[in-house]
Amino acid sequence: VDKSVKTIINILTIAISFSYFAYAKDIFLPLVQDIKYDKAKVKLGKKIFFDNNLSRNRAISCASCHFNYGADTEAISVGTDRKKLSLNTPSNFNLQYHIGYNWNGRADSIKSQAKGPLFSSSEMNMTQKLLLQRLNDDKEYKKLFVKAYRQKPNIDDTLDALARFQETLITPNAKFDRYLRGETKLTKSEARGLALFKSYGCVVCHNGINLGSNSYQKFGNVIDVDIEEYRVIKDRYAFTKDESDRLVYKVPSLRNVAKTAPYFHTGTIDSLAVAIEMMGYFNLGVVLDKKDISDIEAFLHTLTGELPKTLTGEIK
Ligand code: HEC
Ligand code: HEC
Repeated sequence: VDKSVKTIINILTIAISFSYFAYAKDIFLPLVQDIKYDKAKVKLGKKIFFDNNLSRNRAISCASCHFNYGADTEAISVGTDRKKLSLNTPSNFNLQYHIGYNWNGRADSIKSQAKGPLFSSSEMNMTQKLLLQRLNDDKEYKKLFVKAYRQKPNIDDTLDALARFQETLITPNAKFDRYLRGETKLTKSEARGLALFKSYGCVVCHNGINLGSNSYQKFGNVIDVDIEEYRVIKDRYAFTKDESDRLVYKVPSLRNVAKTAPYFHTGTIDSLAVAIEMMGYFNLGVVLDKKDISDIEAFLHTLTGELPKTLTGEIK
């Protein structure tokens, strides 16, 4: 009884939020095309982001795991000394529109998030002391810190520079953005996929400028997922200790999703079509047919944007 009541409540929640979104105008918004940034800080942040010397064994950098549209291509990445992490690497692109950082939102800013990878023993495994030593031993860093922050290398400015660089990693001018701006038309299949995305209710959770990343929702919102198979680790419950947060994760942004397989916090699903099918089933309680899935997939492909200029080119 408990379970069916819960399911009914979940379905009602979806129905209510859907009718809200169906009438709201800005379900989706195009991504900004350009952002202003502080050249000195971004230049420094980029150097830090790519620098293997800032991990204890000088073998990995942030870019080791965030090199493919901001994500990587592994189910689960390995950190320092071949230590396996526990979650799939999310993309660090288009970050400023996120409600919180990491899969369960335990970091409240891009800046504070960076303490995680730098100082965790399974990622870059640094200590504050060692990091300061490495930065201060390097003439180039000393110059860049003074230029950007008017002082010698320190931890707070290191985190700030990483955040300032990552904020510039936007992927504008996806076909969908151009469509939203009235500059292009969608193909028949893409347009049907978008219509289904709205009518089935994917849009209840995947909406806004990033088609997601703005709320926390349950994986298995309507039909429970197999907990053994989809390891319930580091869910939002682990952070809030609120029972209703079990199996709840930040809804991923669907920008560039066609480029960032494998999927879900577990990284267990390689195929976008399968991820779509599972979402329909577990989060909406609908069984999507082949045509529905391929049209939704065609629509999701329109979300691939241009690579960030500050990543691929000079910082100007
Ligand atoms: C060994 C692989 C690895 C390295 C190295 C790494 N990351 Fe990550 N990154 C991850 C994983 C895995 C997560 C998800 C962690 C979680 O949800 O608990 C993540 C999450 C993030 C997020 C949050 C994204 C979101 O959607 O909320 C940002 C931002 C980020 N990393 C930036 C960095 C920066 C900056 C560095 C370097 C200081 C770095 N990462 C180094 C694997 C890595
Ligand atoms: C009730 C909220 C909700 C609904 C409705 C929903 N999703 Fe999701 N979606 C999520 C959450 C939460 C995740 C992350 C699940 C996890 O990894 O544990 C997710 C993950 C995804 C992913 C994987 C993204 C990645 O980077 O790993 C795709 C693709 C996706 N959803 C597409 C869809 C489609 C298509 C629909 C409609 C058929 C849909 N979603 C409906 C909440 C929702």
